[in-house]
Amino acid sequence: MRTPTRAVELGGKTLHAGDTVVINIGAANHDETRWDDPETFDIFRPQVPHIAFASGVHMCLGIHLARMETMVALNAILDRLPDLRLDPDAEAPYITGMVFRAPPALPVVFG
Ligand code: HEM
Repeated sequence: MRTPTRAVELGGKTLHAGDTVVINIGAANHDETRWDDPETFDIFRPQVPHIAFASGVHMCLGIHLARMETMVALNAILDRLPDLRLDPDAEAPYITGMVFRAPPALPVVFG
């Protein structure tokens, strides 16, 4: 959350001093001025600078630990669960949430 210290125009809206502003960082990954076809989930889309870990003075202090943990966890899962894939009998997953965005569940099958 952020609190403007003076009135400011942002995205066509006026924010007033003292307002509480909740920013959905996840929306930045859908920025059509940055990516072609931003609504298509594509892990191979071109890499450009992003703000998943914020930027500037409040940039995430855990960025390197988070990336290392993610790599170790995903490698362990992929090594130990052969032929891991979405459960074809389950409903298609969807992502939700304001601050932490994730699927409520991700049914998978393997082996
Ligand atoms: C995938 C995992 C993570 C993501 C996506 C993430 C994302 C972020 C974001 C967007 C911010 C900025 C918040 C803001 O400006 O309001 C932040 C701040 C921060 N993160 Fe993370 N984070 C992750 C993991 C971690 C881990 C593992 C740690 C520590 C072990 C950590 C420690 C911090 C701290 C201390 C700040 C505050 C920095 C400051 O305000 O100066 N984060 N993180």
